[in-house]
Amino acid sequence: MSDHPSRRDFLGAATGVAAGAALGLPRAALAAPAVHIRPPARPVAVASANGIRGVERAGQLVSQGMDTLDAAVEGVKIQELDPDDTSVGYGGLPNEMGVVQLDASCMHGPSKRAGAVGALEGIKTPSVVAKYVLLYTNHIMLVGEGAKRFALSYGFTEEDLLTERSRQAWLRWRANRGASDDWLDVPADADLVARPTGTINLNCVNPNGEISSVTTTSGLAWKIPGRVGDSPIIGAGQYCDNDVGAAGSTGRGESNIKVCGAFLTVDHMRRGMSPTDAALETLRRVVATTEPRLLDPEGRPTFDLNFYAVNARGEFGAAAIYGARAGGRGSQFAVFDGETAGLRDCAYLYERR
Ligand code: GLY
Repeated sequence: MSDHPSRRDFLGAATGVAAGAALGLPRAALAAPAVHIRPPARPVAVASANGIRGVERAGQLVSQGMDTLDAAVEGVKIQELDPDDTSVGYGGLPNEMGVVQLDASCMHGPSKRAGAVGALEGIKTPSVVAKYVLLYTNHIMLVGEGAKRFALSYGFTEEDLLTERSRQAWLRWRANRGASDDWLDVPADADLVARPTGTINLNCVNPNGEISSVTTTSGLAWKIPGRVGDSPIIGAGQYCDNDVGAAGSTGRGESNIKVCGAFLTVDHMRRGMSPTDAALETLRRVVATTEPRLLDPEGRPTFDLNFYAVNARGEFGAAAIYGARAGGRGSQFAVFDGETAGLRDCAYLYERR
């Protein structure tokens, strides 16, 4: 018999207990069998599409025996240190004052610990600082000046995180932000005057069934200074339960915070949903809790939000609010499936028009 019971087997056993109790059988004879979840034979890592290099690195490191949290952080650090990625870490797009403020959080399933930093300035790798909060403090989240002082105490170097590319993008945004301000307009750049919310989330599980998750971001471009999104919020930007799985998010953080979306996705998996169905169900809750000003005339959100998930068996999935425009490519996510890393299409709620 398989040591990997289906949900139906498990529910059947539970129903049997109730029936037995009604028959007056001794309690010890009625105990439900322990549910043993068989972990994947090889490490699995799932991330937002920008984590394609990260899942490969994390997967390789876990294959070599590295702890899942250490490996996940090593994976997202690739983007944090990349000056050409304007959504994360060094080179991230700044707030409305031209200052880069970074958010990150992580969870380590085996030890049930969590760490986070918000509005951190001057440190390229907020995911590592979040891991240090997890490892070395009795707290879960440090923010702003205190988070920076904490990082400096461990030898992190304070640096200017604004690259020339992200500074130019900020200058263009500031010049074009309104017709009645004192900045003279410059020719608009279609890409750079938009307000991207780039983020990287990465979750991984090893063959011992140990799971970890991490999310890191520079947040919403041109944000009000001090704005903190979902990424550093445990249960929103990412969540990990070693008995069930892990999940995380990218996209409009404010809409995720209201539903505690990473926690909710893991909770859907706890109740038997596949990772993909769990992510879709969370997005339905997001739509249901969206205020009218953020809905189009047909009641569809005017923003993007994605969830990525992996369960303790190494099954994975991801979902977005919108699929592809006709003839185009929709949201994708990155996976290391134990052998190779690649991009796959996200499930989605609505066709994009
Ligand atoms: N999801 C990233 C943010 O909203 O900051």
